[in-house]
Parts: sequence; C-alpha cells; structure tokens
Amino acid sequence: MFKAGKILIDRQQLAARIAELGEEISRDYAGKQLTTVGILRGAVLFLADLLRELNISVTVDFMAVSSYGAATKSSGVVRILKDLDDPITGRHVLVVEDIVDTGLTIDYLRRILSDRSPASLKVCTLLNKQSRRVIDVDVEYIGFDIEDRFVVGYGLDFQQLYRNLPHIAYIDGEV
Ligand code: IMP
Ligand code: MG
Repeated sequence: MFKAGKILIDRQQLAARIAELGEEISRDYAGKQLTTVGILRGAVLFLADLLRELNISVTVDFMAVSSYGAATKSSGVVRILKDLDDPITGRHVLVVEDIVDTGLTIDYLRRILSDRSPASLKVCTLLNKQSRRVIDVDVEYIGFDIEDRFVVGYGLDFQQLYRNLPHIAYIDGEV
C-alpha cells in the first residue's frame, strides 16, 4: 500500500461502526422497503459495506452532484450531474454520503429530493465535520464526528486519488 498520511480511522474501526449503523438502520426501517441513494463518487465504498449490514428489503440508486464554485457557495447551489434512475415518490429514502462538511450539498439534496414526495427522507453520513457547518442541516445517522482536517481514503479523495485506501487518513501538510 502506498503511503498517504496518518491513519485516523482504521479498517477495523470502520467495519465495527458500519455494523452498528446497519443494525440501527435495519431496526428503524423494519417492515419497510428502503431506497438507498449513494452520492457519487465518495460514498461508494461506504454504501457497499453498509448494504451488507442491512437485513431489510432495500434498493440502490445513485446521484452525482457538482461541487459549488466560490460564487454559489453562500447560496448552496449544487448542479446535478447524474440524477436518480428511478422515481422516489412514496418511497422511504436514505441518502448515503461520505462526509458532511459545510452542509450545503446535503441541504440542497434534501430540498430537491423532498420535492419529489418520498414517504420519508433521511441522511446517513460516514463522517461529519460539525465545526465546518455554514448551514444547519439534519443528519440522522453519523458514523464518526471528526475535527476540521482534510481526510482521504475509503472513498474520499484528494484530486481524485486515495479513494482506494481501506482506512481514513489525514493528508494535510503532507501532500
Ligand atoms: P459540503 O461542504 O458539506 O457540501 O461537502 C461537500 C463535499 O466536499 C463532500 O461530499 C466531499 O466530497 C467533500 N469534502 C469535504 N471535506 C472533505 C475531506 O476532508 N476530504 C475529502 N472530501 C471532502
Ligand atoms: Mg461527496
């Protein structure tokens, strides 16, 4: 494995916490059919492992959104690069994200998805940087709260690299 920073969350810690999240989500949606919506590309590894911990009826769909530029940051405008393949009207939807940082992406996704009249809409993120929030947004399931440092691995990238690391690592000051 090539070197990329210091390990913040190792693969055993990830697996243990994701098993707990899977148990909690399975309990909360017992008897219902869940539609998971993975946010490309960062959430792919997390979603793949979380799915294997769900013992309920579940479907999988994906969305890709652009990062907002400096000009749109305050308004939280995000562009849809890839929309869902299937309608979510009347569905129990769980958005699965890699990290909630400023909160602008999730705030935008919550607004556009709730306009499609799902039966319910919740968000599950692997990582949460609460101190970075610029908008107050509901996040129902959080894997780990982390401090304000740039992290990579397990789906998260720096300039599209490091997504393949099996753990979460810090890279600030080391790239
Ligand atoms: P937001 O600021 O909450 O809208 O988060 C937008 C996106 O920024 C996340 O989905 C990530 O793709 C990216 N991001 C935020 N913090 C980090 C980080 O520490 N490492 C890698 N990507 C990050
Ligand atoms: Mg992302």
